[in-house]
Amino acid sequence: MPQTYRVTLLPGDGIGPEIMAVAVDVLNVVSQQHNLQFEFSEALLGGAAIDATGSPLPEETLAVCRQSDAVLLAAIGGYKWDNLPRHQRPETGLLGLRAGLQLFANLRPATILPQLIDASSLKREVVEGVDLMVVRELTGGIYFGEPKGVFETESGEQRGVNTMAYKVSEIDRIGRVAFEIAQKRGKKLCSVDKANVLEVSQLWRDRINALAPEYPDVELSHLYVDNAAMQLVRAPKQFDTLVTGNLFGDILSDIAAMLTGSIGMLPSASLGASGPGLFEPVHGSAPDIAGQDKANPLAQVLSAAMMLRYGLDQPAAAAQIEQAVMQVLDAGYRTGDILAEGMAEGMKLTGCQAMGAALLDALRG
Ligand code: IPM
Ligand code: MG
Repeated sequence: MPQTYRVTLLPGDGIGPEIMAVAVDVLNVVSQQHNLQFEFSEALLGGAAIDATGSPLPEETLAVCRQSDAVLLAAIGGYKWDNLPRHQRPETGLLGLRAGLQLFANLRPATILPQLIDASSLKREVVEGVDLMVVRELTGGIYFGEPKGVFETESGEQRGVNTMAYKVSEIDRIGRVAFEIAQKRGKKLCSVDKANVLEVSQLWRDRINALAPEYPDVELSHLYVDNAAMQLVRAPKQFDTLVTGNLFGDILSDIAAMLTGSIGMLPSASLGASGPGLFEPVHGSAPDIAGQDKANPLAQVLSAAMMLRYGLDQPAAAAQIEQAVMQVLDAGYRTGDILAEGMAEGMKLTGCQAMGAALLDALRG
């Protein structure tokens, strides 16, 4: 009997449905080869959900996600919904899903692939060999802290408020995830905060230091977030695993992503203490190229690999997908976003569907 997994698919908006279709094809081929069976159900999130139901996160979507073994998301958002009130925006649906599934740990790897080194905007010698992991806290900090809102002052002026807040329990649980990941990687953890200015960051730093003795094999360091941003572009190879709060992690993971040359290549995993994880590309819904068969499906496919590795404990199937991605890159297939100028020789400009077909060929050997 094959091992059966219930996987909820959230294709979302923009290029989402095109890249999701490629990932599903890949999963179906891999499942045959590893004696797995996927029961896919599709649900609405983001703009697609707003159009169909009025809400960016319909209750039914949260319910079907909760009942599944893993959730695979493509991307949400688009110009069409940009001016709606905040509670109806696609992003609010994504934040509600993260909170609803209590996915407090967001793993964002940034690995430079030798085939794509010239796509990076940084010099080859700076980025060659970069292999880092940003562990971002995802259900706390300024994204969720109270009070929040736009209030009126006594003099009748509007005042916008958000609150950066972390409890000890929230810092400790993300800290433990990060130390454990560092243990499995290069055994170096850098915690990023703004402890020179913010009280919440001082507590963060104190707690991360308090956890350190439990992980004597991990070398711990701390950086202020402004310095960390600078170090990431100056000398990214000094980093192995980074851990930081929600907002700093949002910003630093985009910087880390771009070291690799294209955000179109990077997957992510969001995990809770129990229940299904959520797996999604770091990039957005790219509404400017939606429906034109130009999208790069590789981050979506690599997100499916992360789902197999971190969500379903099927590392062999995950590795097979990752190898297939290497193979198509070695063979010269490139979507527009990873076709750097001046390296077009021997490269094949490839659409989303053709990239999918090349992956299936690689998987079938
Ligand atoms: C991300 C995105 C989201 C975030 C937005 C779309 C809400 O930028 O996943 O990094 O800020 O977390
Ligand atoms: Mg972001």
